[in-house]
Amino acid sequence: MYSFLFRKKSINSLIQEADQEGQHTLKRSLGATSLVMLGIGAIIGAGLFSLTGIAAAEHAGPAVTLSFVLAAVACAFAGLCYAEFASMIPVAGSAYTYSYATMGEFMAWIIGWDLVLEYALGAATVGVSWSRYFLELLNKYGLHLPHQFICSPWETLKLGDGTVIEGGIINIPAIFIVSLLSLLLIRGTKESAFMNNLLVVVKVMVVLIFIALGWSFINEANYVPYIPENTGIKGQFGWSGIVAGAATVFFAFIGFDAVSTAAQEAKNPQKGMPIGILGSLVICTVLYVLFAHVMTGLVNYKDFANDAKPAATAFAKTGYGFLQNGLIVAILAGYTSVILVMLMGQSRVFFSMSKDGLLPKLFSDVHPKFRTPWKTNVFFMVFVSLFAGFVPVSDLGHMVSIGTLLAFSLVCLGVLMMRYKMPEAKRTFKTPLMPFVPIAGIVVCVYLMTALPLESWFRLVIWMVIGVVIYFFYGKKNSTLNK
Ligand code: ALA
Repeated sequence: MYSFLFRKKSINSLIQEADQEGQHTLKRSLGATSLVMLGIGAIIGAGLFSLTGIAAAEHAGPAVTLSFVLAAVACAFAGLCYAEFASMIPVAGSAYTYSYATMGEFMAWIIGWDLVLEYALGAATVGVSWSRYFLELLNKYGLHLPHQFICSPWETLKLGDGTVIEGGIINIPAIFIVSLLSLLLIRGTKESAFMNNLLVVVKVMVVLIFIALGWSFINEANYVPYIPENTGIKGQFGWSGIVAGAATVFFAFIGFDAVSTAAQEAKNPQKGMPIGILGSLVICTVLYVLFAHVMTGLVNYKDFANDAKPAATAFAKTGYGFLQNGLIVAILAGYTSVILVMLMGQSRVFFSMSKDGLLPKLFSDVHPKFRTPWKTNVFFMVFVSLFAGFVPVSDLGHMVSIGTLLAFSLVCLGVLMMRYKMPEAKRTFKTPLMPFVPIAGIVVCVYLMTALPLESWFRLVIWMVIGVVIYFFYGKKNSTLNK
């Protein structure tokens, strides 16, 4: 009676569909380097430039470097599983498509629906952070926007000049950047990838410059004690602090999986996908640890308390303070590429769900000239703008983390199941140390989920219930597997 819940798509049919020419196909234009750039584009952003200070001050002290290592290990487990799946089923849609082939339609729908939290709300979260640095830059040039239009209604915002805004009406700069990038995505994947490459070069440069210039100004005294003693509160210094710090900076790693949503636009996905996913993850981990090391060496971790712009604070200690405005511009560029890749990932997931009949066809209509899923881009331009304009950033951030961790755990589970169910399927990349890696991935992700606030669990459940209702009223009937 409920067999429809478990109906699956075969891997061969998935790959064939992806390669058919026509109105619903995307263009294969991305090489391995572009894929690594895409990953870095989605990864380095608000997590590094905003959360490192908070994680050091509130949780781990200078040992925030170890928090980064721990979060990276958690992501590496999931990353290895993503790489295996992406090399095996190289079509757009990422975790959604993988589960369609492994766990059946209902789980696929659940994951696809859940990915909206990661990608769409991820774009909204970083959009809001973008607006903060943008205002800071305007303020430095003496420009001020009306308070009602720079902050969502339920948020307190402290401006660089000390003014405190107790709730505005709408965050216009955040809506502006989201809309601008959605329009760019409609214009073309190649154009977007080019723009992304430029932005990535800028942000990697700024991270390297920060590390290089900052290194000689490190005050060794700031590293003593390296792991401050636990204050008696769980998650504040000591080992539990390092773990809590890892849950916080986990946000900084989100995005490497977005590479897999572009599988259908990769020139040689079997090879390019693992390189893109794992390459970007490794590069970012090295940069993060070095960056955090310099940052906590420049400023004592206690001084990062309540600091929304810790990178700027640390940089001011280098004697190159006059480069501050350049730093802010580069950070803005970095955030821009995160938003771009998240929006792109989101549209590709809906593209796949629509091709499968689980969502209306309009989501997979490809623009006749630009060959991009433009109607989805327009839809998410509006959807993401609503969140970016009206929801406080911390609520958004927690939703993103919980949604992503859920998706990661399900991908690990899927890889594990596939090894037993379809051991003979062609895999150009194989997750090592089976079954340890996926099991460890699930354990670590669920563990990190438990460190998130209870409200985010409630919201996750509500979002999922809405998804289940839509599935039973629409997807179940309209699924192409039903025909
Ligand atoms: N990893 C992305 C960031 O930190 C989401 O902005």
